[in-house]
Amino acid sequence: MSHPQSPRFRPTRRHFLQMGLAIPAASLLPSVAGSAAPNGKWRTAHIGVGGMGGADLNSIASHGSVEVAALCDVDANRLKEAQSKHPNAKTFSDYREMLDKMASSIDGVVVSTPDHTHAPAAMMAMQNNKPVYCQKPLTHAVFEARKLREVAAAKGLVTQMGIQVHSSAPYRRAVVMIQEGVIGPVSHVYAWSNKNWGFDGAAPTNVQPSPETLDWNLWLGTAAKRDYVPSVYHPGNWRKLIDFGTGTLGDMGVHIFDTPYAALALTAPNWAMTTCRPPTHVGHPEQNVVRYEFPGTKFTTDKMIWTWYDGDFAPPKISDLNLPSQWDVGSLQLPGQGALFVGEKGLMLLPHVGEPILLPEKTFADVKRADVQNGNHYHEWVNACMGEGTTSAGFDYAGPLTESLLLGVVANRFPDKKLMWDAANLRVTNLDEANKLLKKDYRDGFAVEGL
Ligand SMILES: NC(=O)c1ccc[n+]([C@@H]2O[C@H](COP(=O)([O-])OP(=O)(O)OC[C@H]3O[C@@H](n4cnc5c(N)ncnc54)[C@H](O)[C@@H]3O)[C@@H](O)[C@H]2O)c1
Repeated sequence: MSHPQSPRFRPTRRHFLQMGLAIPAASLLPSVAGSAAPNGKWRTAHIGVGGMGGADLNSIASHGSVEVAALCDVDANRLKEAQSKHPNAKTFSDYREMLDKMASSIDGVVVSTPDHTHAPAAMMAMQNNKPVYCQKPLTHAVFEARKLREVAAAKGLVTQMGIQVHSSAPYRRAVVMIQEGVIGPVSHVYAWSNKNWGFDGAAPTNVQPSPETLDWNLWLGTAAKRDYVPSVYHPGNWRKLIDFGTGTLGDMGVHIFDTPYAALALTAPNWAMTTCRPPTHVGHPEQNVVRYEFPGTKFTTDKMIWTWYDGDFAPPKISDLNLPSQWDVGSLQLPGQGALFVGEKGLMLLPHVGEPILLPEKTFADVKRADVQNGNHYHEWVNACMGEGTTSAGFDYAGPLTESLLLGVVANRFPDKKLMWDAANLRVTNLDEANKLLKKDYRDGFAVEGL
């Protein structure tokens, strides 16, 4: 899925043409990371080191060749905790300053901030020719996902999106089984999460001074200035709000839709349409049903419908799924999160995260399961950066996957309207209002070249 990129990878004119990309005007020999430290270690810089950033830091640092060189967080308490584990790392609260000062002494950058800061931080790292591991969803806006993909490809940088379950054996096995045609061409995927990363209320009013340990201005970053409200934004709850997160669809959908997207080799949707409450312009909806149509591929019927349910709509009732009547799946209990593939020969239920279950069980009792191993998603990135192997969720894959999900997030703002999508030109063809939500205005002082 990813291109054979390594820091020493030198794309040729043919390579750019094969990828359908413009040939960079300046040079076909990008300057890439790889300023090997005197001790031969791969030196990482981490942006956002609390929450998932802490887990990312531990996982990347567990690679024997990695030296953690720099840590950045806008929350001084979280920064201090991370530094206690990596006392030799330089610390920063502003990633722009970190990239400026450390550019010549770091080899790769890990971005684990809230979603609205993924694109500016990752883009700035790539503008400095650094390979990037970026948390999911790749970006907050569709345009940003397109640009990150283009720049990573043009510079030949090794990238990986933080969907670590993508490398787990059950998900890899599901991909192999679908592509081997075990359930035949797939016509429909139902996917769901019973989490609620939406908020149906009004804008928060309980304004308070931000804690001294939090740099609120830097936390807001590219987003419009506003007052701090405790427990609403930092940590974690930003997910529910349209200015910072992507709701349950972006947050969990990117994990749960990853396997169908990879297994069915999907591209860009023809359209997306949401059923949810009218927009509040504050939070993402607490309950969504989102439908997409994708063009057919060699693993699907001539069109493929994807239907997503979240919040209290999930898990959907079996009766909601209009399953083909020839398969009696009885009173099948769906897990709280997962996906159900509907093929011409049967069904595959993929719990999040668990082994694929083929249905009806009797029909598939003798099917041999593909023998695949768990991969280490983090080490895969480090190894690829050091010239060994490739990543499986590079921005060439993560970009289009994220664009698809974010089109659904845009559709949440226009309930019951089918947004017709022209991916080549990055525009909704039948609703100009929707096009205004594809790209963001960055706050003065936070502009980033290329975004
Ligand atoms: N892959 C997974 O399984 C998984 C799981 C959880 C979260 N995530 C992703 O990880 C990211 C972070 O989520 P979280 O739950 O840890 O959020 P969080 O709010 O708990 O943590 C974010 C961290 O980033 C820091 N931060 C915020 N803005 C920053 C900035 N401008 N510069 C430097 N640091 C900054 C915060 O202080 C905090 O330490 C999100 O993109 C989320 O989708 C992924």
